[in-house]
Amino acid sequence: DQAPAATLVIFGATGDLTRRLLVPALVNLLREGLVGDGLNILGVAREDMDDERLRSLLDEFVDPAAAGWADLRRRIAYLKGGFEDDATYRAIGERLGGADNAAFYLATPPDYFGTIAEKLAAARLLDEGAGFRRVLVEKPFGHDLASALTLNERIVNLVSERQIYRIDHFLGKETVQNILVARFANPMIEAVWNNRYVDHVQITAAETVGVGRRGRFYDATGAMRDMVPNHLFQLLAMVGMEPPNSFAADAIGTEKTKVVSAIRTLTSAQVRTDIVRGQYVAGRIGGEPRAAYSDEADVDPGTRTETYVAMKLWIDTWRWSGVPFYLRTGKAMAARETEIVLQFKPVPRALFRHASVTRLPPNRLVIHIQPDEGVNFDFLAKLPGPVIETAPVSMNFRYADHFALRRLTGYETLLYDMMIGDQTLFQSAEAVEAAWAAVQPVLDAWSRERVRPQEYRAGSDGPVEADALLERDGRAWHGLRG
Ligand code: BG6
Repeated sequence: DQAPAATLVIFGATGDLTRRLLVPALVNLLREGLVGDGLNILGVAREDMDDERLRSLLDEFVDPAAAGWADLRRRIAYLKGGFEDDATYRAIGERLGGADNAAFYLATPPDYFGTIAEKLAAARLLDEGAGFRRVLVEKPFGHDLASALTLNERIVNLVSERQIYRIDHFLGKETVQNILVARFANPMIEAVWNNRYVDHVQITAAETVGVGRRGRFYDATGAMRDMVPNHLFQLLAMVGMEPPNSFAADAIGTEKTKVVSAIRTLTSAQVRTDIVRGQYVAGRIGGEPRAAYSDEADVDPGTRTETYVAMKLWIDTWRWSGVPFYLRTGKAMAARETEIVLQFKPVPRALFRHASVTRLPPNRLVIHIQPDEGVNFDFLAKLPGPVIETAPVSMNFRYADHFALRRLTGYETLLYDMMIGDQTLFQSAEAVEAAWAAVQPVLDAWSRERVRPQEYRAGSDGPVEADALLERDGRAWHGLRG
């Protein structure tokens, strides 16, 4: 169904997020007929520009021939204004008029979230009359547990939880949503999804990109804050959660938050042994030379910020007791690969041992989130021949072989769901706080002990210490190009 008519007010309208993702996503929704000509955009930023300049800035990432773009383009307006000025909010109010549906998208640096919410509330722009008033915020939501709590407290009285949409764009990915389908629509899969059969879980988000133009933000943030309590924990929660009673936002949110809150609190000793902090030095990626992180633009040359983190976590629930979860993420790595691996326990007795096989390769279920979306199941088959010898084989499901995968930005579902008021794919205050609580001991130990990151070469699989982390447990990371 088409979403109701609404005005999308974008704070930070000239920024990367708006141009590369939000506007292209809206154009895709237009093409699908999921939004119509009732959609208006009001871009707010500090730059001197006018409606037409903003429109041509937005043209860059949109196919000029895309159905509906010429029309939507005419319904884009620009408002110059500081995020701290009351006048900006008065002007927004005048543009919006009375009863219209409006959503405020905070595509701004996170420091502004509290201020913008306060100013919107003070200008009564969040009062819902006949229409809805909603606020969307991007991650990072706070930079640690204390700041997330403060931010949530600051906005709780201004805007109801029902009106606030905390975005984690991983939830907009088809393959991430598919984790729930794989588990809860397929009894055969769900039946072995527990500590009786699963030996351990690996969650990887490896990137080949560096920090590009985001040096300033990234150097103050680091891989842990940038990726772990948000994207990686979303994956962990979907793998770890119990079946919800329904597909309603609350039912799913409750189960996911339970998993994240069940992550065992790390002691300082565990931070030293079970967490690896890395930073890339110069190397080559795909044959191209890559400078060290410390030489990237807007990065402090003496930086100790991590561009890689690997960690071993325990989830203290009945389902996962005794099953380690290994997580890793890094920039400037050998390959771009986001995947979840469930490695199954070995058979109790190797009946089919053959001279050439000392240890049977494990069963593995590999969920490729991106770039080559699909699911693999690695198992053993009998090698044809007179002796019983096993050979590892794989069943591969590739999205592209079965479905016409349109290249979407991932923001389509998120924007559409917000407009129809479905919060299933968004984060509650409790979920965000539970995630920060789980990583806080690491952040504290790192800053208390002034932990230097381990070096890894750009274009490698990460620091050797991360390999050692699994080797100690008699395990190994799933190959990045495997
Ligand atoms: C963002 C991080 O949230 O996610 C980036 O800030 C990271 O550093 C990006 O590159 C990864 O998202 P995707 O969709 O490219 O996997």
